[in-house]
Amino acid sequence: MRILWILASIAALIAAARVLLAQTPPPYRNPKLAVQQRVDDLLRRMTLREKAEMLAGGGWMESQANQRLGIPAIKMADGPMGVRNWLGSSAITNAAAVTPVTATAFPAGIAIAASWDPEMADREGRAIAQEVKALGRDMILGPTVNINRLPLWGRNFEGYGEDPQLAARMGVAYIRGVQGEGVIPSVKHFAANNQEFERHRIDETIGERALNEIYFPAFRAAVQEAGVWAVMSAYNKVNGVWCAENPYLLSDTLKKRWGFQGFVISDWGSTYSTAATVNAGMDLEMPGGEPMRIWLSKPATQKDGNGAGWLEADKVLAAVAAGAVKQEAVDDAVRRLLRVMFTAGLFDRPHTAGGEVDTPEQRAVARAAATEGIVLLKNADGALPLDATRIHSLAVIGPNAAVARTGGGGSSLVRPKYAVTPLAGIEERAAPHVKVQYALGVAMEGTDAGDAAARQAARDEAVALARQSDAAVVVVGYAAALESEGFDRKSMDLPAGQDDLIQAVAAANPHTTVVVVAGAPVTMTGWIDRVPAALCAWYGGQEAGHAIGDILFGAANPSGKLPVTFPKEWKDSPAYGHYPGENLHVEYAEGIYVGYRGFDQRNIEPLFPFGHGLSYTRFEYSDLAITPARVAAGKPVTVTMKLRNAGSRPGAEVVQLYVHQVHSSEDRPPKELKAFRRVTLAAGESQTVRFTLAADAMSFYSTARKNWVAEPGQFEVLAGASSRDIRLKAAFELGH
Ligand code: BGC
Repeated sequence: MRILWILASIAALIAAARVLLAQTPPPYRNPKLAVQQRVDDLLRRMTLREKAEMLAGGGWMESQANQRLGIPAIKMADGPMGVRNWLGSSAITNAAAVTPVTATAFPAGIAIAASWDPEMADREGRAIAQEVKALGRDMILGPTVNINRLPLWGRNFEGYGEDPQLAARMGVAYIRGVQGEGVIPSVKHFAANNQEFERHRIDETIGERALNEIYFPAFRAAVQEAGVWAVMSAYNKVNGVWCAENPYLLSDTLKKRWGFQGFVISDWGSTYSTAATVNAGMDLEMPGGEPMRIWLSKPATQKDGNGAGWLEADKVLAAVAAGAVKQEAVDDAVRRLLRVMFTAGLFDRPHTAGGEVDTPEQRAVARAAATEGIVLLKNADGALPLDATRIHSLAVIGPNAAVARTGGGGSSLVRPKYAVTPLAGIEERAAPHVKVQYALGVAMEGTDAGDAAARQAARDEAVALARQSDAAVVVVGYAAALESEGFDRKSMDLPAGQDDLIQAVAAANPHTTVVVVAGAPVTMTGWIDRVPAALCAWYGGQEAGHAIGDILFGAANPSGKLPVTFPKEWKDSPAYGHYPGENLHVEYAEGIYVGYRGFDQRNIEPLFPFGHGLSYTRFEYSDLAITPARVAAGKPVTVTMKLRNAGSRPGAEVVQLYVHQVHSSEDRPPKELKAFRRVTLAAGESQTVRFTLAADAMSFYSTARKNWVAEPGQFEVLAGASSRDIRLKAAFELGH
């Protein structure tokens, strides 16, 4: 009897323990445990099939969830200039028919880069991440840090310009802003997505030195300085191998050499194999599931050269069974995905839709960023700012005046709740003293301009308006339909009729300012000498109109600097002749001489140099000093100089520090940007600006040694207001 009683008690105890155990959440659910512990625990509980399932997307914009273990899907949204609709491809969601997702349209990457203000990129990243969360998403597909190799690339507006140092600083700041909010960024597109022409098929031959010195640094900084959580591979091939299955890029460089701990995500429809892709280091193939299958079955998708569906579980498991993929490779991919998901808090603090988007704070960031990014290209005889107490009438003319061109086309285009046109922003600032009148002048290329008589009438109206006004502003440039992901610009020229319009307006009114709204350089040789003032406003997001109005009327002092060289003509570009390639092959024959490096080396005068940008005030540079004058190998030098605002308005100057090695065993560019600082000074104020140049500022990538090398010898430090406006020089000696 007693024995029976004991047995019953033991059974009851075991049952109770079981219940308790079932109720105690497994360690991976415990937010107090270290991420690595949670990852290991969860990984141990997963079957091989469950792991394999994580390697392919679950839908158009999300990874696969696992119900049994409660693994959430990573819910993504396109960027990088704000949160974009995630319901389907950009071709679908940019069409008005789809339920819109409206969010703040921030300035394009090129505009942010033109601010040379990493703090602004951080603020933008933070604001965007807040909107990602408010809309119930977890990941933003940006920033784009591909180098603007040529003025014709359709996606120049997304990137941070032609210089690796500038792109690195902006990218790192954006990523920190996003990750600081617990949102996953995805720095893209690794590597060398520098043209849209045949982007799925083009094979780029790029030397190792150019990769390391020009095309990699922004990605490397994202990994090593910002500890980025995700990297998106590119569509193109680099040196014969598609980026999504490129072991040199993904496993050797990103993961082994740089120590990347996050996950690699494929660009949408860029995979062409199972084993090679997994083995190269791809962790998550996108898109997936039914939306991918429907999309892939469309003739246009295949015609474009997309590939997808290769990392679906059945295929991965078959590859494992056949010994073509090791289980460890699958484990590694899942470990990386889980690590990021735990770090970002996806298990503990799921994002639910319903938060506030487009708040006054976010709008303020968009406006400040748009303002800081505007570059005053030319300002003869103080033509700007416009003085609202002296002019009484202003003609605002052009195809980009009364339309807000918030961004370029493709997957980054955000649909804002509202957008301020340049005309509206100008009117706001002009009121109540200045009478503003508008005329289209010429329709945007590709839109209906009517017959020849209608076109002539539109132009005559604009010219007459300019003639009778005290001053004229012509707002020209591109539009999302002409400058976009998916195709390159057909030329560097302004779209049809715009050059002629500017010339006619300038002839009618000598006080004409040209405002260019575009994502990349445009040819200006036909008119730049005929107008006293010109601005480049890029695609400035939903607040661009306010920013343009503020700058034109002097409520804000321009401080942007060009993140790309503006060539006089396309044929001056270092990439000219090495684009778009032949037979699906392009040779990056200019090597490291991209952008100003190439203009300097070949001694070609650009229209406006890299780093150029004027102000309504004047800055004086003095007292450049380097300590120590002789530095030991591997040690940094400190550079100081004095900057004074010698004008009568407050303003910001971007001091640029270029380095030049006087004698080197290998060719080096005449100058390379190694540091910069945006300094805001009151009228008459001075400041000592201090920089540290670490050993890597002196080194180049040696293909022979497969490493960075700093050779002993003399180095010059050039402090400038642009790459062609060097104000001060000093030298130091690097010892053995
Ligand atoms: C673009 C990516 C984008 C993805 C998802 C691709 O076509 O290249 O930048 O994030 O689509 O929309």
